[in-house]
Amino acid sequence: MNRCSIILAAGKGTRMKSELPKVLHKANGTPMVKKVIEVLGKAGVSDNIAVLGHKKEEVLASFENKLRYVVQEEQLGTGHAVMMAEEELKNFEGTVIVLCGDTPLIKTETIQKLVEVHEESRAAVTVLTCEFQNPFGYGRIIKDINGNIEAIVEEKEASDEIKNIKEVNTGFYCFDSKKLFTALKEIDNKNEKGEYYLTDVIKIIKNRNEKAEAYKISDENEVLGVNSLEQLAQASKILRDRKNSELMAAGVTLIDPSSTYIEDSVEIGNDTIIYPNVTIEGKSKIGKFCKIMGNTRIENCIIGDYVEIEASVLEESEVMDYVTIGPFAHLRPKAVLEKKVHIGNFVEVKKSVLHEGVKAGHLTYIGDSEVGENTNIGAGTITCNYDGKNKFKTEIGKNVFVGSDTKFVAPVKIGDNVLIGAGSVITKDVPADALAVGRAKQVVKDGWNKNR
Ligand code: UD1
Ligand code: CA
Repeated sequence: MNRCSIILAAGKGTRMKSELPKVLHKANGTPMVKKVIEVLGKAGVSDNIAVLGHKKEEVLASFENKLRYVVQEEQLGTGHAVMMAEEELKNFEGTVIVLCGDTPLIKTETIQKLVEVHEESRAAVTVLTCEFQNPFGYGRIIKDINGNIEAIVEEKEASDEIKNIKEVNTGFYCFDSKKLFTALKEIDNKNEKGEYYLTDVIKIIKNRNEKAEAYKISDENEVLGVNSLEQLAQASKILRDRKNSELMAAGVTLIDPSSTYIEDSVEIGNDTIIYPNVTIEGKSKIGKFCKIMGNTRIENCIIGDYVEIEASVLEESEVMDYVTIGPFAHLRPKAVLEKKVHIGNFVEVKKSVLHEGVKAGHLTYIGDSEVGENTNIGAGTITCNYDGKNKFKTEIGKNVFVGSDTKFVAPVKIGDNVLIGAGSVITKDVPADALAVGRAKQVVKDGWNKNR
C-alpha cells in the first residue's frame, strides 16, 4: 500500500509565548516537527506533506527548503488544514496518516501498528485513541453498543455525559486518501469554535456506510501535544529518559540518569561510564570504555575508546583512543587529538592537529597549529595565531620540548627534536635539533636592593 503523511503545523502556538515557530522548538535537541518526520521515516513513511502557515518561511528555512509542504493562509481549523493538501495528493491512492507537528513523543512502533490495523481492516479511517486521566480539552470518542467508533465530539460541543468519557482523540489518524477528501467536502464550520473540524469526518464516513475504526493505546505520554514551554520541558524529559534507558540497555553506565543529558542522535559504546551533569549533543559518537566525568559538555564530536574527559567543553572535534582531557579544557571546532594525547587544566585547542602522544598539561592555547608526535608543550605556551586581520599557522615538529611560557608568533615552523627555552618569544623558524631561546638577558646587580 502507498503511504504518506500530512503533518499539521500551521497554527500559531500562542501559548509558547515565543517568537520561534512552535514546531521548531527542540525536544531533547531535535525540533519537534523534525522528530515527528524522523519517527515517520523509521515507520516507513517517507513521503510527508507539512501544512504550514504561521512563520512558514522560518520552518522551511530550517529544512533548507527540502520539505514538501502546502500553505494554509488562514487557520480555519484542522479539517480546513487537511483540505489544503488535496491538490498535492490528487494522484495519490493509499493510506494517509494525519498527525500534528507538536507531538514529538510518538513511537515508531505505534505509527506502524496504527497503519497495520488500519490497512488490515480496510477501514476508511482509523483513529488513534487513549484513555486520559484528565480528558479535558480533547475530542471524546463516541462508540456504539458494539464498541465501534461512531463520532468524535469536541470539548466545546460535549454534553456533561460525553464529558465523562475518558477515551480521547489523540489527533493521530490513518485515512484512505480518496475517502478522506470526499468526506472533507461535507464538513462545515457551524460549531462552537466556528472552525472546520477534521473530527467531523468520522460521522460523515459512518453515514456513508464506510468503516471507521479506533486503535487504542495505553501510554498517555506518547501522544502528549506540546502547547507551552512547560510541556516542552516535560516532553524533553521523557525523550531523555527513553534515550538513557536505551543506552543503559546497551551497556553504558550512567551514574545518575536524572542528571545526564544525552540527545537522541548521540551514539555511545558499551562500558563507557557517564558521570552526573554531563551533556552530550548532536551527532556525537563516543567509543567504548571511556570515562566522561562531571560537568562536561560534548557537541558534535567523534571520540575513540578508552578516553577520559573531566569537566571540559568539546565542540566539533575529533579525539582518538587513550586521550585524556581536563579538567577545564576546551576543544573548539576542528581540534584533532590523536592517540594518547593529554591536555590538562585550562588548555584550549582550536583547528589544530596534535599528533600521537603530544602533551600540553597546563594553561595553553594552541590554535591553527600542527604539533608532531610526542612533543611536550610547557605550561603557559601560546600560539599567537592572529594579527588582528588574518590567522597564521604554527608548525611544530616531533619530540620537541617547548619550555614554559613560550610564545610562537605565527607563521612559524619548528623542526623535530628542538628545545625551546622557557619564556621565549619565537618569531623565526627553528631548524631540527637546535636550541632556541628568545628572551631578554637577565641582569643581576649585587647588593642593589639592600642599599636602596
Ligand atoms: C484537536 C482535535 C481533538 C483532539 C486534539 C488532540 C479537532 C477539531 N480536534 O483539537 O479532537 O483531541 O486535537 O490534540 O481536530 N492546525 C492547523 N491549522 C488549523 C488548525 C490547527 O495547522 O487551522 C494545527 C495546529 O497547529 C495543531 C493541530 O493542527 O498542531 C491541532 O490543532 P488544535 O487547534 O490544537 O486542535 P485541538 O483543539 O487541540
Ligand atoms: Ca492542541
